[in-house]
Formats: sequence, C-alpha cells, structure tokens
Amino acid sequence: MSRIAYVDGAYGPLSAAHVSVEDRGFQFGDAVYEVWAVRGGELLDAEGHFTRLRRSLGELRIAEPMGERALRIVLAETVRRNRVKDGIVYLQVSRGAARRDHAFPDPPVRPTIVVTARAADPRAAAARREKGVAVISAPDIRWGRCDIKTVNLLPNILAKEDAKQKGAFEVWLVNADGLVTEGSASNAWIVDASGRLRTAPKTMNILHGITRDALIRLAEERQIAVDERPFTLEEAYAAREAFLSSASNAALPIVAIDGRTIGEGRPGPLARTLSDAYFGASSD
Ligand code: PDD
Repeated sequence: MSRIAYVDGAYGPLSAAHVSVEDRGFQFGDAVYEVWAVRGGELLDAEGHFTRLRRSLGELRIAEPMGERALRIVLAETVRRNRVKDGIVYLQVSRGAARRDHAFPDPPVRPTIVVTARAADPRAAAARREKGVAVISAPDIRWGRCDIKTVNLLPNILAKEDAKQKGAFEVWLVNADGLVTEGSASNAWIVDASGRLRTAPKTMNILHGITRDALIRLAEERQIAVDERPFTLEEAYAAREAFLSSASNAALPIVAIDGRTIGEGRPGPLARTLSDAYFGASSD
C-alpha cells in the first residue's frame, strides 16, 4: 500500500506529494512542526502538542493554517488512510512559498501544510524499552556553525524582518561578548576611528564571505591594511565608515546604525574605492 500525504488541502500518494522549490521551509527553515504518537489509532497527548504548535506558530508569526477542529480531522484522516494503529503523525507548517527574500513575504502568503503518518513496529519499541539504549555526548552547538552556508536561516530571517520593520536595510548581529559578528545576509566592516579597515575574523561565528575575501585582497593590493579583528557596536558607532559585503551588494556603504549617523552620514571613500575595484576586478 502506498503511503498517503496531505498537502495543502489534498490527500495523495506520498511518492507524488510535493511543495514549491520556493517554499520558505525548504529555503530558510522558516517552518514549524509537530509529531504526535499514535496508539490504537488515537493521538496521544493531543492537547499538549496543539498548544505547543500554536505557540511555535505565534512565535514565528505564521498564521494558523486552519482551526484546531479542522486540523484534528486532517490528522485523524491521514492516520486512517495510512492504516496506522501504532506510530506517529507528522505535521509541518511553513510560512509558504514566495520569491526568495529573507524578510517575510509582504503581503503574507498562504502557509504550506503537510501531514504524513507512519506506523512503528511496536515489538521493536518494546524490545528497546526492555534493553535500554546507549547515548554519547557532544557540545551543544545549536546553531553555532555560521561558517557553513546552510539553509538553517531562521535566526537570520527573523532579524532581517525586524530590520525591515524598522526601516533598515540590514541588521548587524552582536554576540554575547558584545562583538559585531556579521549581518543577517552579509559581512560587516568598519573603518575604525584610527583609520584601519576592520572585519570579524573567519571563525565559526561568521559566514566566510567570498566577497569579503575579494575585498581583503583588493584592499591589500592597494596597500590598505585590513585588521581581521572583531569590533564592538560602540566602535561601529564611532567609525569613520561602515559598510557591508555580499555577492549581491559588493561593498555597500552604511550611513546609519541604530539611528546614529556614521562618519559624515554619506558613503565613505574606502567603501567606494573597494566597491569600484570589485566591479572593475570582477568584469576582468
Ligand atoms: N548571503 N553572511 C551571511 C550570513 C550571508 O548570508 C552572506 C551572503 C554573506 C556574504 O557572503 P558572500 O560574499 O559570499 O555573498 C555573509 C547571500 C547573498 C544571500 O543569502 O542571499
């Protein structure tokens, strides 16, 4: 028997079920999920999971895709169509499909909803409970690997949306030590009060920007010293210049941070030199 999935209002074979490649769950991890245990065809702890689902959706400001009564019917129907007596039912709700942009789609789009169900082998579970299991330990780095260009971008998109709401183009992220790491979708740079070009070093805390590398190279070719050393927000406020870098923006001058004017409140000369050099260099 083919397994059955529910996707956006329709039941069909799991093997043919699909969502858009521009679904924000796929592109940004901009989605929530729940898993209910099914015992004897019934959901276990149903209310606890519904409460957490509402909370998760609320925290991400994703509209509830349907009321709880309707959702209970969809979950029960998916369990029934998959003939699951003991197993799990899985629900995923994403913000929906929209042209790729970190900030939320405006106007909002319809959330994507997917439900699947799967039987579990009750004997295997009983055997595991009987014997017990082993675990290993590992550092909790959820999510401390910003150097990997992964689509695990939920913190980035929430920060970017916040920036958009406040009329800003980008958001600079500040870590627990008070240091600016990078932007939500770009690397962060300043020309500090002593005239040195500064950007955070290539650690696990930042994405190792390709544009960042190119700008360092171009600066050094022009005898402009680059300090790969993090800076504080206070240093950024007091900077002569600030700019961000990314593939789509080259070196983009920043004229205000948190409402404070940077330098003279207009694009600085170093950002312009590097941006011109970058476009010149990349058209070679
Ligand atoms: N973002 N830091 C983050 C978190 C980024 O997402 C990006 C790029 C950069 C700059 O990297 P590069 O210079 O290689 O583009 C730094 C792209 C543009 C995006 O997500 O749309």
